[in-house]
Amino acid sequence: MNSLLKFITCGSVDDGKSTLIGHMLYDAKLLFADQEQALLLDSRTGSRGGAVDYSLLLDGLMAEREQGITIDVAYRYFTTQKRSFIVADAPGHEEYTRNMAVGASFADLAVILTDAAHGVLTQTRRHTRICSMMGIRHFVFAVNKMDLIDYDRFRFEKISREIRRMMAEYDVLSLTILPVSATEGDNITRKSRHMPWYGGVSLLEFLENVSIGASEKGGSFLMPVQRVCRPDRTFRGFQGQIESGTVRTGDDVTVLPSGEKARVSQIIDAGVRTDSSRQGRAVTVCLDREVDVSRGCVLAGDCLPHVGSLFTARLLWMDDNPLINGKNYYLKLGTRLIPATVMNITHKIDVNTGAEIPADITCKNEIAECEISVSDRIVFDCFQSSRTLGALILIDRVSNMTSACGIVLQPIRRDASLTGQKLDVTREVRAGQKGQKPVTVWMTGLSGAGKSAVSNALEKLLVSLGKHTMLLDGDNIRMGLNRNLGFCEADRIENIRRIAEVARLMNEAGLIVITAFISPYARDRQTARNIIGPDSFLEVYVSTSLEECERRDVKGLYKKARSGELPDFTGISSPYEVPLHADLSIDTTEGSPDECAERVLKLIEERGFLQGSPAGGDTQSKSWIEYDESAEK
Ligand code: ADX
Repeated sequence: MNSLLKFITCGSVDDGKSTLIGHMLYDAKLLFADQEQALLLDSRTGSRGGAVDYSLLLDGLMAEREQGITIDVAYRYFTTQKRSFIVADAPGHEEYTRNMAVGASFADLAVILTDAAHGVLTQTRRHTRICSMMGIRHFVFAVNKMDLIDYDRFRFEKISREIRRMMAEYDVLSLTILPVSATEGDNITRKSRHMPWYGGVSLLEFLENVSIGASEKGGSFLMPVQRVCRPDRTFRGFQGQIESGTVRTGDDVTVLPSGEKARVSQIIDAGVRTDSSRQGRAVTVCLDREVDVSRGCVLAGDCLPHVGSLFTARLLWMDDNPLINGKNYYLKLGTRLIPATVMNITHKIDVNTGAEIPADITCKNEIAECEISVSDRIVFDCFQSSRTLGALILIDRVSNMTSACGIVLQPIRRDASLTGQKLDVTREVRAGQKGQKPVTVWMTGLSGAGKSAVSNALEKLLVSLGKHTMLLDGDNIRMGLNRNLGFCEADRIENIRRIAEVARLMNEAGLIVITAFISPYARDRQTARNIIGPDSFLEVYVSTSLEECERRDVKGLYKKARSGELPDFTGISSPYEVPLHADLSIDTTEGSPDECAERVLKLIEERGFLQGSPAGGDTQSKSWIEYDESAEK
């Protein structure tokens, strides 16, 4: 079979990687007549004084040609008699680190160019690091421009030693070093006459023959479920691609994350029933018993990946907005998409040298290590063990853009030793005792908008109705629980997270909670909604304008902010993101705090949170008593 090799070429502007691939296509007669004609014509005005400029074949975009650099990732497809190839040609400068990572993520092998006159440079180290981080384990170093150093064997051997020293830090499956000249064609498709001392094969011959089929987890069966197929009541199959190993009918498999066991009863591969199927095939697997399987679950053979919600990761940051501790994203890992929080950025890694630099924020094109917490238990693995379950991307929840790609380093077992304790007195029991339904009314708005005044009036109204309440107010909480937090973005994220956890606990206690915090970031309000639970969360936007808040300036803070005395002040030197889907908006210039509070009370009532019978005689408490009795038996 004519197998496929996906590889990436890495090199800096002048290393000649486009020339290398161009020359390979030209020599191997892999061009159409018109492409060859165009190349010869273009070369007359090219950068080689009329000689064939092979790089013109690869630098497809006009802008790139004019600047003489490769900007995006260009993918080329070609086929020789022995093999088919897809080559990703990615730019090499540091500001294009993310493009190279994208190219490397799809490749099985990297061809890294170094200039024979310079040897291993900072950029060589960077390219190697990015490729390795993206999972490449087969490396070819093409020591280029041998013609310019008179095909000097000793110089080549010295560079080879440097390369081997550099590679010692990486976990590679194969390492090959070739002396070449991309412009002259030495060792590109044919062995060079100029380097009789070189005992290896040409680059093309090497690429045609290199074996890549490394299987994950020692070849144990692993299949992330992409889809549950249920055409009628008689059939239930789980579809996905086998990422490693082989599956046979009669095999025992474990369904993760639940850990349930089942036996394979049927395998359908390309529409045909079969007894076994192997890595790389897209199949439908049926099990012999009813188990709970949905998209994102994993069917596994003997070697089980990790199950948990906390792990350390190395991220390559691709977003224009920096990564800050505590931020919330969607995480895609395997076939699972799930909300995730990036916590504890431990350090950045200098992409050129590998040095660890202490940091708590990460900017575009930087690599950082951090802890990631996901909102549910998922199946994952260390990247070294599984490229499929160890690679992840983070997606911005608002723009839907990819913010980072990364790899899982280690599971964190902090949560594995914790078990949620089942309590007999539940939230319903506590709420029932008070004769109410717990809810959190989340007031958001600028400083001075009137959140505290409306909240205060609202709490008085609720209490007058016999409700049990708690008001959490920004300044008060910041003088106690959150006195260690300031007003930078990371601290505001943590401020809101803690308030949300406290509000949730108070709801658990059966209380109606009112919170009054600026909570300027939409993402953090979403986090609060998730923590508290969307069914118990009402967002009230106190929409009083900045002009009005500044005119009131009750605490004199706007004046200080304008004079520069108070940094990061919301509305002046720090953003406020207006809620787009608040349950209610109130402008305190349009009514007194009491009138505004009446409107919020109406909302609470409309949503059914004021229902509930007075304490003592309700069914909820009774059900607890019944529970208690049965527990006695
Ligand atoms: S939040 O942004 O993290 O939600 P929070 O509501 O807890 O803020 O605290 C806001 C209160 O802190 C304001 O009402 C104001 O009294 C005070 N404050 C002091 N410095 C700042 C600042 N730089 N930005 C906003 N509020 C500030």
